[in-house]
Formats: sequence, C-alpha cells, structure tokens
Amino acid sequence: MSVLEEVLFSGYIAQGPKSDEFEKRFGEWVGNPNTVLTSSCTGALALSVRQALDSGEPTEKPNVVSTPMTCIATNTPIREAGAAIKWADVEEDTGNISAASIDETIDEDTRAIMLVHWSGMPADLDAIHRVAQKHGVPVVEDSAHALGALYKSKKIGNHSEYACFSFQAIKHITTIEGGAVACKKPEDAERITKLRWFGLNRKEQRDSIKGFEEYAGAGYKMNTNDVSSAIGLEQLKYLDGIVTRHKENAKTLKSELDGTVGFPRVADGADPSYWILTILVEPDKKRAISDSLSAQGIDNSVSHTRNDIYKGLGNEALGDDSAVARFDARKLNIPCGWWLTQDDLQRIANATKEAVKNA
Ligand SMILES: Cc1ncc(COP(=O)(O)O)c(C=O)c1O
Repeated sequence: MSVLEEVLFSGYIAQGPKSDEFEKRFGEWVGNPNTVLTSSCTGALALSVRQALDSGEPTEKPNVVSTPMTCIATNTPIREAGAAIKWADVEEDTGNISAASIDETIDEDTRAIMLVHWSGMPADLDAIHRVAQKHGVPVVEDSAHALGALYKSKKIGNHSEYACFSFQAIKHITTIEGGAVACKKPEDAERITKLRWFGLNRKEQRDSIKGFEEYAGAGYKMNTNDVSSAIGLEQLKYLDGIVTRHKENAKTLKSELDGTVGFPRVADGADPSYWILTILVEPDKKRAISDSLSAQGIDNSVSHTRNDIYKGLGNEALGDDSAVARFDARKLNIPCGWWLTQDDLQRIANATKEAVKNA
C-alpha cells in the first residue's frame, strides 16, 4: 500500500497531519464536526465517561446506569473512572437497554446513562432521551457495532452527548486499533481532545521554548497516530459500500431464515447497520445449533456475555427472571459482513436451517 509507505517513510508516524485529516473527514462522514479520534472505542468510552463525571454536579458516590447486554469494554471504563454501575434491564425483544428500566434505576447520584446499539441495531433513543432529560443526565452511546446505522434518518453520532465508535480489527472499518467519539457539544470535544493526550492540546502549535501552558487535568494516553489514520482514510473510501453490503446481507439472511429462527425487533425509527446478525433460538437447542453450524464451517458465537454476571464489575446480577437473562439465553450471532458472496449467504442460510432442523 503506497499510502502506508508514504507515512512510514515520512519521518512522522505519531499523531500528526494524517490524523487531523482523518479526524476531519470521519467527522464529515458522520455529519458531526465535534468528532475526536482516539486509540480505541474503549478509550473513547473512558474519555466520555470521564468528561460526563467531570462536568456533572460533584457527588461522592457517582454511578452510571448501564446496559448489561454488551461487551465488557462498555462497562470497564465506568469502573476505571471511579463510578459504580447500576444495571438497567434490556427490552427482551431488542436486547437494547430499556428506557423504562433506566427510569426505575436512575438516582440522584447518576451522572450518565450508557447504552449499546446491540449488533448495530439502534436503541430506542427518543424514549431514552426523554428519561435522560427528565433526570438531567448525559447519554453515552457505545456505537462500536453501529457505524453507519441511522436513527430517525440521521447517522448514529448525532443524537446524544457522546457516541463512541470502534475501528478495531473486526469492525465495519478498521485502522487495526482505533476509535472516535462524536460529541454533541464542542466544549466536550475540546476537553476530550486534551484528555486523550495527558491533558494537553497536542494539536496546538507548541512553543518550543515555553512548551504547553494549558493543562486540562490528569488525562490519558488514548490518542491515535498517523499510521492508523492513513489506513482509516483509505477505509473511509469504502465505508458507504461496506455499510450497504452489511444491510443487504442481513436482509437476505433474514428473509431466507424467516420462520426458522427469531430476530431481535428493529426499534421504531431505526435503520440498523448489522455488524453481525443476531438470531434467536430455543435456549436448550443453542449448543446443538452452534455445534452444527461450526461443523458446517459457519462462524457463530454469542459474541458477548451479559455483563451483570461479572462480579468484578461490582454489582448484583439482574437475576434469572430478567429480560437480559432471557435475551442472552436465546441469542446467537452469525456473520453478515461485506465480504460474503451470494453463495456464502446461501450456504449460511442452508446450514442454519439444517442446524435448527436437527437440534
Ligand atoms: C460493544 C462494544 N463496545 C466496545 C468495544 C471495544 O472496541 P475497541 O476494541 O475499539 O476498544 C467492542 C469491541 O468489540 C464492542 O463490541
């Protein structure tokens, strides 16, 4: 790749001009100029939670109301930032956090609401924002699965205070490792720009004698670099096509498998970007279905385990009668990525029918 060679031999591989260009162009693609590149989505989430805590009313015991049906990366940043996690339940038919459960769970020490758009299927943002506004707390969207998804005709990245994206190896696009946060307020983007690099604004021209004079408070090392950004700029050229292929592939599989397996409901106003396709099967048949798919050469997995059962995150699990327990028991994920051909899709559909029939 000549663009990579150009950066690698340029004498400048750290965060510099390529990163500025990718940051601007990715923000334009999302439609939000307050977009900041980070080292990963986990980094973007950590910076967002930190900024939400720092800009809220101080409290001795802050908490964040969060979804258990997600990757551990959604929730570890909350604990790292020194807040407790309060689990809200999910909607059983979507797997996404329930606005009603947030409303029941939230208290006066809640400083943010954390959600994930499970598998790229947008959560019910209008209902969640109504609850957030009632309690005066910001919303962080873990959008790692949802690059290119729309809610009410707008790309994810334009609805809440913070929306965090992943460019890790197996996401819609990759920079090997990388991420971004799209902020609603320019001042949040400005502070996160500093916090991602120790608390200093690396983008400002440094006076070589004075050095940096402004410090935004103890920050992190969660910046990007020009090698990743050069890859990102190339990937961006294909992003629209990639998202379209994910959507079309999911549509083909959903129509082929209609009546064979269940699917999570698409929320009103949502247009998912289907990072993976979640199918819903009978819990006692899931192991057999999964084994059969694997034997037929079809990748499948539960992807993420409900987080509330992880004692290390420090709160009581929601219990066996919760919606998250039922969703988690039924869900299995199959591929629907851009690289699949029509023959691949037919093979996945046939293998799934065979697996369900024999389970
Ligand atoms: C829902 C979710 N959030 C966050 C992440 C973390 O992304 P990253 O590897 O870019 O930190 C992942 C990774 O798979 C994920 O699935």
